[in-house]
Amino acid sequence: MEEILRMEHITKRFGEFYANRDINLSVLKGEVHTLLGENGAGKSTLMNILFGLYQPSGGQIFLHGKPVAIDSPATAVKLGIGMVHQHFMLVEAMTVFENIILGDRNTKGIFIDRNARRKEILELSERYNLDVELDKPITEIAVGAQQRVEILKALYRGAELLVLDEPTAALTDIEVEGLFRIMKKLVGEGKSIIFISHKMREVMQISDRITILRAGETVRTVERGETTGEELAGLMIGRELAPSHYAKVTKPGAAVVSLHDVDYQKKSKHNGLNGVTLEVGRGEILGIAGVDGNGQSQLAQLVTGVIAPEGGSVDMKGSRVATFSPNGFILENVSHIPEDRNKMGLIGNMSVMENILLKETGDPRFSDAGGWHLKRKAMRTYAEQMQQKYDIRCTSVAQESRNLSGGNQQKVILARELENHPDLLVAVHPTRGLDIGATRFVHDTMISARDAGCGVLLISADFDEILEMSDRIIVIFEGKIMGEYPGSNPPIDQISLAMAGK
Ligand SMILES: Nc1ncnc2c1ncn2[C@@H]1O[C@H](COP(=O)(O)OP(=O)(O)OP(=O)(O)O)[C@@H](O)[C@H]1O
Ligand SMILES: [Mg+2]
Repeated sequence: MEEILRMEHITKRFGEFYANRDINLSVLKGEVHTLLGENGAGKSTLMNILFGLYQPSGGQIFLHGKPVAIDSPATAVKLGIGMVHQHFMLVEAMTVFENIILGDRNTKGIFIDRNARRKEILELSERYNLDVELDKPITEIAVGAQQRVEILKALYRGAELLVLDEPTAALTDIEVEGLFRIMKKLVGEGKSIIFISHKMREVMQISDRITILRAGETVRTVERGETTGEELAGLMIGRELAPSHYAKVTKPGAAVVSLHDVDYQKKSKHNGLNGVTLEVGRGEILGIAGVDGNGQSQLAQLVTGVIAPEGGSVDMKGSRVATFSPNGFILENVSHIPEDRNKMGLIGNMSVMENILLKETGDPRFSDAGGWHLKRKAMRTYAEQMQQKYDIRCTSVAQESRNLSGGNQQKVILARELENHPDLLVAVHPTRGLDIGATRFVHDTMISARDAGCGVLLISADFDEILEMSDRIIVIFEGKIMGEYPGSNPPIDQISLAMAGK
């Protein structure tokens, strides 16, 4: 088969640090080629080089056998390369249509033929089953739909080689199936796709070939048919990872938080809560299972003080909560691993150290005179300890957190939220985008927090994660609780039905 892309001896340095070192990658026409590697292995960096966002420090890119210099995304687009980034880059204030034609190759002057454009986009969307509502603003469409907009945008610009950087991280299982059908259709028509994912099951399902990166270097390229998920995991992390089995707690302690008949926008199927009664005890993990968008976000916001109930009541450690505010809940020793780490979890232009210490401003270890005097040295030492403990891969704790790989950003949040011995931990999709090693680390850490007496509310769209971690399971559907199930030997069929509202 024809080779469409070859990246040869690609090296990328940031200061002294090699994000990519002598990487080789060859992509054929009509294949799904997966890039596999741990958090921080250099996958996004390599793709950002291909898309002209970074210039390599060394190496050469060939397209159809010819050497090319890709000096900007505009050049990449001209050469037929499209990219859907790990963190979407849509302009939220604009509509779907406006986003797709933004930076259009044919836009000359202000007179653009909107009708012709619409027609072209609608044809593409029909051909690839990329269902989108063209006139809706980005803020009003779900994550899965935003993704389709990104893909549509790349195809509209004429992409022959499409890079999808962790496209499935925030999708439901059904949406993933839909995306895979679209991908199959695209490669069936001779386009090529570079796919990045941490989910081994997906990688084994969709890939033709897989290239494994480790610590910025190429390990090997393998045919999907000639490998197994276990072998890939081994190549990726360079060691074996034994299966985990956590003992389940059957007798939780006193309630840390309890909700009584709580309503919040109860008419809304996707963004409300309707008569929710539940409690999280000390030393247990309560798992909330359900398809994303059935009130989980509101539940998390409620028990972290972001929103207040419109009906019913909430008790925190036995006392009725009178006022709801994030700060009030932090003072009650509630920790939060938020669902959207870029919007709520991290301040991108602050350093790793500052993000780790965000909640500790009044701590006498790090400041005196009421926070006026910062003890920089103690702060740095502490942040470096956390960097070690949570295996945060960064050049130094002074690095801006926005430059960290997706998975390493998540570890910074974990270090901040778990180190202060919370009474209640609200963890929303805590392992989304994490590699298997890091996922194991997060799970182990949550179990130790539980065993130390912390109550954990785990909200996850990953059913396997709910089953593995939860001592009790509650299913939520359209804002209502459908049932409660034990964490040991859970009735999986019943739970799946409840998740579908049955
Ligand atoms: N602009 C930058 N400045 C400094 N270091 C950077 C920059 N961009 C990336 N890095 C570093 O390069 C390494 C590789 O990052 P990259 O984003 O490519 O990882 P990744 O394989 O995509 O990981 P993930 O699976 O977590 O998304 C990381 O250690 C990251 O901190
Ligand atoms: Mg990445």
